[in-house]
Amino acid sequence: MSIFRRKALSAPTADSSGMKKELKTSDLIMLGIGAVVGTGIFVITGVAANETAGPALTLSFLVAAGAIILSGLCYAEFASRIPVLGGPYAYMYVVFGEIVAWMTGWLVICEFFLAVSSVASGWSGYVQGFLSSMGVELPKILSGAYNASEGTFVDLIAVLVLIFVTFWVSLEAKTALRLNNLMVYVKFGIILLFILVGIFYVKPSNWQPFMPFGFSGVISGAAIVFFAFLGFDAVSMAAEEVKNPQRDIPRGIIGSILIATILYIVVTLILTGIVPYTSLGVKDPVAFAMRFVEKDAVAGIISVGAILTLLTVTIAMMYSLARIIYAISKDGLLPKFMSKIDPKRRTPKNATYVAGIASMLFAGFFPLNLLAELTNIVTLMYLIFMGFGIIRLRSMFGEPKKEEFRFPLVPVLPLVLVLVSGALMLQLQAATWRVFAGALVVGFIIYFAYGYRHSNLNKLDQK
Ligand code: ALA
Repeated sequence: MSIFRRKALSAPTADSSGMKKELKTSDLIMLGIGAVVGTGIFVITGVAANETAGPALTLSFLVAAGAIILSGLCYAEFASRIPVLGGPYAYMYVVFGEIVAWMTGWLVICEFFLAVSSVASGWSGYVQGFLSSMGVELPKILSGAYNASEGTFVDLIAVLVLIFVTFWVSLEAKTALRLNNLMVYVKFGIILLFILVGIFYVKPSNWQPFMPFGFSGVISGAAIVFFAFLGFDAVSMAAEEVKNPQRDIPRGIIGSILIATILYIVVTLILTGIVPYTSLGVKDPVAFAMRFVEKDAVAGIISVGAILTLLTVTIAMMYSLARIIYAISKDGLLPKFMSKIDPKRRTPKNATYVAGIASMLFAGFFPLNLLAELTNIVTLMYLIFMGFGIIRLRSMFGEPKKEEFRFPLVPVLPLVLVLVSGALMLQLQAATWRVFAGALVVGFIIYFAYGYRHSNLNKLDQK
């Protein structure tokens, strides 16, 4: 059936860019950390410890890291055997054909624009925390996502920052990305500062009870903090600019995941050791912990650092999102105007605007916890496709060659990835599932109303 038409492995799966091949493993790890470390650790840890897992949130990070490492390995084999731009969307086009590729692409688009919205919403939390520490408060109605009972209507700061980011990415993408590398150092710096100062204020009694919400709290917590690891796929998107992709991409992916895991576990241990988890339900927990022990100057530095670094995560994700939309539109599955390149700036301007508007709506009106859960559910769904995809890849093209990356223990580990992803999805709230179901329906509608007929492969079929 032609909805399962596949791209040949040799066909260029996205724009062949002719870009310079100069990135090494260490650059890729920087890229990975730049895209990964953000709202998850700086914002979501607080409410997750407070409401879901307690101090055992450290264990939640371990469980989430396990799932992420499995998916990282999965990416690594795909990236080393199908080294083209486009990520999971491009891989699925080769192994399962168009409808699965489109749905994967659609889920990746949702993942990125929801992540952009979440990070903007988290950013707004830090800015508001910072402003209120200086005595400036926003009118209540403009201070948070729509919630009639709380009297909030729109998160104005989140919307404003996205207007700024959208314009910047559409005009000055390269400068924006260069800033990202610098910000990785700022990120390491403030995390290190937090650890070095915080460690002296840890009271082990705050870790008791360690699992106030039981083991199920640990697993639900994992389904939430899974968010903190997303973005490592930015590494596989750089495939065309890497000197030795077969070797360096797997190393970049696994390296950035391991570093993030260690940072997250240490920060969470210290955070829950300083502040009783019952007081952690705040929008800027890492800075809050410093204020809690009256280190206001350190709290100020951490807030400013977080404000700067979260901004660059938003920029990096908006940049990738626009390129994903561009690549899919180029294949004919989304309207052509989205793959138009601005002649002067050489950037996919329309794709960036579409990405910006969608993110603004979500960041303005949906609360961060729902946004983060939605980001997770769409990601977990396509990880399930990826798990099955590896098994299919092996049956189509055989075992990986010596120089290619090998996902160990196929089919057992890919099936573990499928099961763990499914189990984490089941932990998420009913509201998340409802919006998710809506997103799937919209995805199918776009495909059957537009993509199926306009796909480049459809044109080939008819020749
Ligand atoms: N992992 C990214 C963050 O935590 C999305 O902000």
